Amino acid sequence: MNQKETQTASGGVARIGEYRDELHAENLDDIQVGEYGYKYRTIEGVMLPPYVTPDRYAVSRSVETRPNDVCYCSFPKSGSTWLSNVLYLILHNGEVPEGKTLRSCLHWMESSWPYPRSREEVGALPSPRIFKSHMPYRMALAGGPEQSPCKYIYIARNPKDVCVSYFHFESGKAWSGGYSGPWEHWLKLFMEGRVQRGDWFEHVLSWWGHRDAGNLLFLKYEDMKRDFDGQLRRIASYLGYDLSEEVIDRIKSATSFSRMKTEQFSNHREIPQLEGFFRKGEIGSWKDQFTVAQSEAFDRLYRERMAGTGLDFEFE
Ligand code: A3P
Repeated sequence: MNQKETQTASGGVARIGEYRDELHAENLDDIQVGEYGYKYRTIEGVMLPPYVTPDRYAVSRSVETRPNDVCYCSFPKSGSTWLSNVLYLILHNGEVPEGKTLRSCLHWMESSWPYPRSREEVGALPSPRIFKSHMPYRMALAGGPEQSPCKYIYIARNPKDVCVSYFHFESGKAWSGGYSGPWEHWLKLFMEGRVQRGDWFEHVLSWWGHRDAGNLLFLKYEDMKRDFDGQLRRIASYLGYDLSEEVIDRIKSATSFSRMKTEQFSNHREIPQLEGFFRKGEIGSWKDQFTVAQSEAFDRLYRERMAGTGLDFEFE
C-alpha cells in the first residue's frame, strides 16, 4: 500500500494510502486534502468524494438507459435513500425481497458502493433498473433528461437540515471525506459551496431549472414527510404504475423511518461505515445545531440565492 503522506491546509497529515482499499480506487494521486483532513477530488470543477473516479464518472455518463428505467438524483443527505426504497417497492408491488439489501438493488455508476458497476454489467440487466446519482444537472447520469430516455427523479430538502445531516454523516468517519472539523467550520464550507458535490444552491437550482422536462419529476423531502400518500401517488403515476390501496399501505409502512432503520433490507448494517445513517429523519433538526446568528446568516444567503427562482422550502 502506498503510504503517501499529504500535508493538509490545516497543518495535519493525512495518510491517503490507507484509504485506497476502502475506496476501491487505484489512482489516488489527484485526491486533494483540505482543512481538517477533508478529502475530495475535483471533476469538471465540482468537488466530489474520492470514490467518484474519472473512470466511473465516464461510465455513468455513457451508460445507456431505457424508457422504463428510473434514475433518482439529489444533493447528499436529502432523503435519497428513503426515495430509493419507495421506488424499489413501487416497481416490485410493495414486496420487500428476502435476503437482499436495498443498496444491492441499485446502480450507483459514479461510485464504488457497494462495488463498482460496469457498463457491461448493468447493460445486461433487464429494465426497470434503478440508478442513483448525486451529480448536478450538467453531470447527470447518461447525459441527463434531455439526452436519455429514462425517468429522472430529483429530491431536494431544505438546506439547513441538509447541512446538519451532512455534518454528522461526514464527521469522524474514516472514509469518504474523513472530515474532522467543528460545526462552525463545516457550516462555512457548506455556505461557500466547498463540500463534496459542490454548492447546494447550484446543485438544486440546476435541476429545478429543468423541472418541466417530461422525464423529470422534482420532489421535496418536506412534502414526503407531510403528505407521504400524495407524493407516493404522484411518483407512481409519473412512473406509470397504478397502485392498489393495499400496496400503498405496504409501501408506506415499509418505508417509515423506524422500519427503514431496523429492517435488514434497508438498514445499511452491511456497511459498517454507515453506522448512524438513520439519524433523525425529521424536518427542522437544524435548530439543535445552528446558533441564532448562524441561522440569520444562513437565511440571508438563502434569500439572496433563491430570489426569483420560484423554489422555496419549509424549515420547520
Ligand atoms: P437526518 O440525518 O436529518 O436524519 P440521504 O439518503 O440522501 O443520504 O439522506 C439521509 C437523510 O434522510 C438522513 O437525515 C436520514 O435520517 C433521512 N432518512 C432516511 N430514511 C428516512 C425515512 N424513511 N424517513 C425520513 N427520513 C429518512
